[in-house]
Amino acid sequence: DAPKPLAGKKAIVTSGPTHEPIDPVRYIANRSSGKQGHAIAGALARLGAEVTLVSGPVTIPDPAGVNLIHVESAANMLDAVTSSLPADIAVFVAAVADWRVATASGNKIKKKEGEGPAPLELTENPDILKTIGHHENRPQLVVGFAAETADVVSNAQAKLARKGADFIVANDVSPETGIMGGDRNRVRIVSKDGVEDWPDLSKDETAARLAERIAGAF
Ligand code: C5P
Repeated sequence: DAPKPLAGKKAIVTSGPTHEPIDPVRYIANRSSGKQGHAIAGALARLGAEVTLVSGPVTIPDPAGVNLIHVESAANMLDAVTSSLPADIAVFVAAVADWRVATASGNKIKKKEGEGPAPLELTENPDILKTIGHHENRPQLVVGFAAETADVVSNAQAKLARKGADFIVANDVSPETGIMGGDRNRVRIVSKDGVEDWPDLSKDETAARLAERIAGAF
């Protein structure tokens, strides 16, 4: 049998996008396939962790050996994460929408002839990583992600402190990298100890390596 260095540890992983309703048929969302987050949940489970995967709407299959909680919005995701505490490890991979519509309409908003589009008033969503990073029940190890298109490392360093994370997995998601929606990833691990540059790997390999790195922290 493979060694299980995370046996007895509880982990929470968020993955996928969130959908913020405008009305019953429309929503605001970020681009996210869920591939990297689901792979990390599976990799932590293979090392013996008891994993709760809180996933926004995705089209990829559920990974084996994890407890799945399916959610729609950022508010739902925060509730699911908070109710899954306490945990030893939390990895926030989800691409949470920063804003939601202040008052979603209960009925479909109708297009009216001769009138412009209905204005959408937005309000800020809770920051799940930041909430848990500063929570009284904070997991021992909190990992965040930073998908950026510029200044990847300096943005990740700023996020580390602001969000209360132990490390930030930073990646460049500029369209020309093909990372978004693709099967490969090239990340940097940013912590108070410095920056590790990881090679171009499949998302599964990135997940396995990250799970080993997390196990090494205990
Ligand atoms: O600030 P930014 O969205 O770039 O931060 C990315 C990190 O924060 C990711 O780990 C993401 O899962 C998490 N996040 C969150 N809740 C939000 C926004 C981001 O958990 N509302």
